Amino acid sequence: MQNLFHSIDTYLTQYQDYWRFEPFFASKLPHLPWLQHNPSLCEWLSQLTPQQVEYYKQNGDALTQACAPFFPKLIHFLEQLRLPQVSLSGLQLERGIDTGVPGRKLQQILAMGESALQLKAGTEWLEWCSGKGFLGRILASQSQQKVTSFEFQQALCESGQAEAIKQKLPMQFIQGDAFAEESIGVFNRQQHAVALHACGDLHVSLIDKAVKSQLPAISLSPCCYHLIQSESYQALSQPAKQSALRLSKSELRIPLQELVTGGERVKRHRLEEMSYRLGFDILLQEKLALSEYVPIPSIKKSQLSEGFESFCHWAATEKDLVLPAFDSEEYLAKGELRFWRMEKLSLVQQLFKRGLELWLVLDKAIYLQQHGYQVTLREFCGRDVTPRNILLQANRQAD
Ligand SMILES: C[S@@+](CC[C@H](N)C(=O)[O-])C[C@H]1O[C@@H](n2cnc3c(N)ncnc32)[C@H](O)[C@@H]1O
Repeated sequence: MQNLFHSIDTYLTQYQDYWRFEPFFASKLPHLPWLQHNPSLCEWLSQLTPQQVEYYKQNGDALTQACAPFFPKLIHFLEQLRLPQVSLSGLQLERGIDTGVPGRKLQQILAMGESALQLKAGTEWLEWCSGKGFLGRILASQSQQKVTSFEFQQALCESGQAEAIKQKLPMQFIQGDAFAEESIGVFNRQQHAVALHACGDLHVSLIDKAVKSQLPAISLSPCCYHLIQSESYQALSQPAKQSALRLSKSELRIPLQELVTGGERVKRHRLEEMSYRLGFDILLQEKLALSEYVPIPSIKKSQLSEGFESFCHWAATEKDLVLPAFDSEEYLAKGELRFWRMEKLSLVQQLFKRGLELWLVLDKAIYLQQHGYQVTLREFCGRDVTPRNILLQANRQAD
């Protein structure tokens, strides 16, 4: 894992200019930012039609092949990011166990639950940031072992506890704050900890407390890497601490940025809304000399049909700005041009997104290895079920 981390870290650092930006803001530059260092990439991007941009957004493999000539060793970089899939035979659920669990969530929970049961260490479970405890319910019913479900929201604890009582499951919900020091009191050395989609510092707090409490095993799927308490990413492992990458909160969002695909209607609305926002931004720069970005509140889809000019007047009123006369066709055209530049910037960033996600997950994996755990990283479901599909499993080695 250290070698893999090192290889990803080197590549991400070498090509950091190609992913460390927000496409919305980077599109403000009058030209693509890599004109001097990678003119052939810029030339390729410049000649892409909107239809081709859409095609590459939806065809990651085609995008990789097309971009390979512009980034040496790109194919190797992406291939090493592929994780094995968990091998599942399917759980036989008792009747009613999946009550109230939405479809996609159920698929995730079953995959995660079966993977945790396969590793099975300890004689109890600790479900960290459990929500209503859907995962804990599967584990309790399959193993008949005690599950402690720890969750911040009282209402979720109550609803989860009521369901557990109804189904006669050995589950106990505890309301508490994962960040509070006293939450370590819910850990004990018999527990296998599980966490499905614990955001940012919530999964870090689990790792920290599990290590301190010497838990026998952990199965977790991280998400929302940017939901952290500090201003920038706090690396856990030695290799990540030594990395030249210091990741800001906004950079921690990059792995979560899904290229928006969808039907023609969704695409049209997005093109319209983003072009309006970008066109309005250009208008403020050129007509009111406002160099700072002015954030505009969200807008109802129905408002878009009133057109760009109406959008500009609405946005100006929202922000107490007085607009001079302007040619709305000219600024909408400028907004659309910027929209496609933004989309092209996103295509390039897309190549590095999974690498950054794995960098973040490997940091935790290596930290756990440093603390005596044997760690595996796999995908527990397809990206169509959830793009946050990495399962980290750690098994404590005997002292
Ligand atoms: C993304 S949800 C995941 C819930 C559940 N594991 C699932 O997959 O359905 C994150 C959960 O963490 C809980 N949470 C947020 N902050 C918390 C904190 N400080 N302490 C404990 N739980 C917290 C939320 O209330 C929410 O239920």
